[in-house]
Amino acid sequence: MYLVYLAGDPSIAYLHLRSNSTPPTTSNPNIPRKRVAVIGAGLTGVSSAAHCVGHGFDVQIFESRPKDKGLGGIWSRVNSTSALQVHSLMYRFHPSVHYDSAYPSQKQIQEQIISLWKRYDLERRTVFDTRITSVKKTKQGKWIINDNEGEYGQFDGILACTGVCGDPKMPPLPDQDQFGGQIFHSSNLDGKDVKGKKVLIVGGGASAIEALEFAVKSGAGEIDVLSRSDKWIIPRNVLVQSLLACNIFGQEISLSWIPEWLLRKFFYRDLEDIAPTDDGIFTQTPMANSELFNQIREGKAHWVRGDIVSVEKTGVLFNHRAKGVPKGGPGREGLIEGDVIVMATGFKRPSLNFLPNEVFDEPYSPPSWYLQVFPPKYPDICANNSTYVDAIGTVGNMHIGIYTRFLIMFLTDPLTRPTEEWMKTWIDFTRFMKKLAPTRAFDFFTYAELIYWYIFVLIINPFRWKWALFVFFGIGRSLPLIVVEQENALRRELKKQRKSH
Ligand SMILES: Cc1cc2nc3c(=O)[nH]c(=O)nc-3n(C[C@H](O)[C@H](O)[C@H](O)COP(=O)(O)OP(=O)(O)OC[C@H]3O[C@@H](n4cnc5c(N)ncnc54)[C@H](O)[C@@H]3O)c2cc1C
Ligand SMILES: NC(=O)c1ccc[n+]([C@@H]2O[C@H](COP(=O)([O-])OP(=O)(O)OC[C@H]3O[C@@H](n4cnc5c(N)ncnc54)[C@H](OP(=O)(O)O)[C@@H]3O)[C@@H](O)[C@H]2O)c1
Repeated sequence: MYLVYLAGDPSIAYLHLRSNSTPPTTSNPNIPRKRVAVIGAGLTGVSSAAHCVGHGFDVQIFESRPKDKGLGGIWSRVNSTSALQVHSLMYRFHPSVHYDSAYPSQKQIQEQIISLWKRYDLERRTVFDTRITSVKKTKQGKWIINDNEGEYGQFDGILACTGVCGDPKMPPLPDQDQFGGQIFHSSNLDGKDVKGKKVLIVGGGASAIEALEFAVKSGAGEIDVLSRSDKWIIPRNVLVQSLLACNIFGQEISLSWIPEWLLRKFFYRDLEDIAPTDDGIFTQTPMANSELFNQIREGKAHWVRGDIVSVEKTGVLFNHRAKGVPKGGPGREGLIEGDVIVMATGFKRPSLNFLPNEVFDEPYSPPSWYLQVFPPKYPDICANNSTYVDAIGTVGNMHIGIYTRFLIMFLTDPLTRPTEEWMKTWIDFTRFMKKLAPTRAFDFFTYAELIYWYIFVLIINPFRWKWALFVFFGIGRSLPLIVVEQENALRRELKKQRKSH
């Protein structure tokens, strides 16, 4: 997910110029004010809504949770010890976001989301405790939310910003009732006392690393991370992350062995055993952490590969697997003692089931959508940041604005809207381009690939050219609108002439 801010990206200068800009309070009265329903009040929803308001659209944000657990999305529901893994330069989810540190904490990120929400006057445009269960299109092409036109009115577009981290995932462990200690989810560690205790962490993802750091800081007596599959870990280094994200092909290529070899030799070094063998770096979301290996080297924690056989009163019976042996394969069983189990087993993916049924029709079900976020047939629905599976990049970057402005362009200018056939053709074409990728075409992408998608999609349709600066940088909405007006006038004139003949 760590999509990286490309070094030398021209938008950086622009973002800096705009970083303290305040939102426009009025929009051009000649421009019809369109309405967009934004589903989710996490950073994507708040940022997308701010972009819409900033460009003269009206929005209504719907959040299923109460304000204290919903505003800020997942960042309002994780530990206060959580922090960004990627550099904050790559987590500027809106141009006006400003961080004081390179790797801001949960609190700092949440504060940025809330302050953006207030700055763009989104408070009065947000309803909490309101889960969206349906969005339906009227014959006139407007959207109705939860069959409740009376209360919410009609909308021209939908921004589904439901994220990918919903409720904590707590898979039951075999015989877990026998355990004599406590079991927590990794997102629920605030206030837990693990001083001097033996901590067992189940899982080998980013949350497992965070739980390990929590346990180290809290003075745990012993820490074991029980990981059933190997994942790539990369340094917390802006240059390394940017370079990896520059892979324009968005998949393993013949040169991928170079970064993989460099990581093994110069980053993993003596811990090469825990680097993945069968999965390349461009197949799954890597974790970014530079401290983990030192903590393992210093004996503060152990990282073990294998499967949980059963939970015992005093710990976990674990089948240690050798490198390369698949999950569930043979190994050496042994008891790993523990007083506390932390389930770093991830989060449930929030459902997009409220969208019309046909958006899930194979072979064009998410994430195999136009530009990954627009379902074929519906360029007026943008599932911003809600369809991705794996990537090298970050969820919280300028692409939130770019996708929102694609939607704004499609809503404003009919000539830029892709047809259902064209949307499907683009998806098929991308699949063809990535037919050799070890993952399905849209299950993994890099940031450079996204940029290529955007450029290609803008270039292919001459009516979109005038919008290019707007889509990429948010510049010049009024100019394309003037052209749109002229095009509309010309179309009206041609229609009149055709009628009179
Ligand atoms: C501890 C932690 C650290 C992370 N660090 C990074 C990082 O360093 N870099 C990175 O790129 N990513 C990171 N992530 C991933 C993180 O999910 C994203 O970066 C980002 O916060 C996602 O924001 P979002 O707004 O898209 O989704 P969310 O923050 O999940 O917000 C979605 C909102 O939509 C609401 N919602 C869902 N369904 C409905 C519905 N039907 N109706 C109404 N509302 C609904 C939810 O209640 C939620 O509030 C991290 C995640 C965690 C848990
Ligand atoms: N600071 C940060 O940047 C940060 C911190 C936390 C989370 N995040 C983000 O949040 C998202 C979720 O991360 P996450 O680490 O919570 O979840 P995750 O990436 O889904 O990892 C879950 C881990 O738990 C393992 N697991 C699941 N069920 C299991 C079971 N029954 N028995 C044993 N192991 C099991 C998985 O193994 P398999 O892989 O074999 O299924 C995997 O190793 C990711 O996008 C991540 O990048 C980021």
